[in-house]
Amino acid sequence: MDFVFEKTPDREARLKTARLFVKSQLGKETDLVANLSNISAILMESMDDLNWAGFYIMREGELVLGPFQGKPACVRIMPGEGVCGTAVAERRPMLVDDVHAIENHIACDSASRSELVVPIFRNGEVFGVIDLDSPSLARFTELELGYVGEVAELIEKAL
Ligand code: SME
Repeated sequence: MDFVFEKTPDREARLKTARLFVKSQLGKETDLVANLSNISAILMESMDDLNWAGFYIMREGELVLGPFQGKPACVRIMPGEGVCGTAVAERRPMLVDDVHAIENHIACDSASRSELVVPIFRNGEVFGVIDLDSPSLARFTELELGYVGEVAELIEKAL
């Protein structure tokens, strides 16, 4: 399957296509770095108004930067730190409308204003997180939460 991204302004249509592309990528390749690299590109290409899309992977008790699209980012995050670390500590997605309102937000890119983080689980443990940042306030809604949650589930099945 060629990854041809539609130009439609319909956000849900683009997320549906992204889900299809993620399934296709995971169906044809088993290498984790290759898959997460292309999935970060699929997420970045399929959503408007993002400045960062990618992964942090749990290694020896801390999150370590994984494949991503965007500006260079902080490399290690402890559970409980920032939005990503809170998602790990609380084992739940985090949808933050205004990152400046979060006391321990880690500002990797000062342009980021809202953030969506979804944990990925393996054998009941947090394997890593999907992290999306936007320069706009309240960019992410239940729509993105639902589709990115499905992407996390597809990755979980492939782990
Ligand atoms: N802002 C995140 C850190 C990761 S960067 O956004 C890529 C946080 O508070 O966890």
